[in-house]
Amino acid sequence: MQRIVNRHGLDMPKLGLGTWPMLGDECTRAVTEALDLGYRHIDTAAAYNNEEAVGAAMAQSQVPREQIHVTSKVWWDRLNPEDMRASFDNSLRALRSDYVDLFLIHWPAQDWDLARTIDTLVALKEAGRARAIGVANFPLALVREVVEVMQAPLAAMQVEYHVALSQANLLDFARRHDMALIAYSPLARNKVSEMPAIQRIAARHDVPPTQVALKWLLDQAGVAAVPKASSRANQLANLASLELRLDDEDRALIAGMPKNQRLVSPAFAPCWDEA
Ligand SMILES: NC(=O)c1ccc[n+]([C@@H]2O[C@H](COP(=O)([O-])OP(=O)(O)OC[C@H]3O[C@@H](n4cnc5c(N)ncnc54)[C@H](OP(=O)(O)O)[C@@H]3O)[C@@H](O)[C@H]2O)c1
Repeated sequence: MQRIVNRHGLDMPKLGLGTWPMLGDECTRAVTEALDLGYRHIDTAAAYNNEEAVGAAMAQSQVPREQIHVTSKVWWDRLNPEDMRASFDNSLRALRSDYVDLFLIHWPAQDWDLARTIDTLVALKEAGRARAIGVANFPLALVREVVEVMQAPLAAMQVEYHVALSQANLLDFARRHDMALIAYSPLARNKVSEMPAIQRIAARHDVPPTQVALKWLLDQAGVAAVPKASSRANQLANLASLELRLDDEDRALIAGMPKNQRLVSPAFAPCWDEA
């Protein structure tokens, strides 16, 4: 499987498994199956309430822990230093591990001490308990402040990214700073299956539309994707996207699609204008 490796301590397979909103046994079963199929990148978060289920799957698996990349995240209401450290400790306990491969701030907060939050994040990396650190759902101005002004060694940003939503500015920034961009909701929650341009490309290659949407992301330098798939069939189909070869005509068709369909924007989301 292709990997993204960067100077900030990241070494991550490009294709991962999203776990939200799976819980309990369903989540353990799906992660166990994914590990059996060859997935080595699992995306979870404190807020998903499924880290224990992910930890159980890893504990049962024959795959050694060091071969699995695990991302977890701290929720935006736990960003003062004490709460963040407690949330992080809890994540490690639930995951039955003494480190995570990537630890992210899940969303920016509105009223917070950004410098103290980032210092705490960086301290987790310096202690070796988070092998790499990053942010999710940060608009460009904020990620620029953290990386360029505060000089925090961020290895990755995780944002909504798919064929119907441009992230050109963030991607450009990520590449200039040797950061990975991890695409969440990479299938636009399976809306890609109903998009005519994607259907047309899929028909030409005789594959499902989801594979076209995923491979378009995975072909991009520095981009990873974490589709959530609960069934073995969908997990296998998503893995098969790695074999697909898109051509210039396919890419031109996708480039011509409207790119303003943001699906994830809860009440606490930041202003996306500059994203
Ligand atoms: N950082 C953040 O704020 C944030 C926000 C949202 C999501 N995420 C992460 O990103 C992951 C993925 O995002 P998402 O769940 O929003 O959307 P998504 O991965 O784009 O779509 C998931 C949906 O697509 C279906 N699906 C998966 N593979 C398929 C296939 N081959 N054919 C047909 N349908 C398929 C799944 O169905 P089945 O389950 O039935 O297979 C599920 O209904 C989450 O699980 C989470 O880990 C992070």
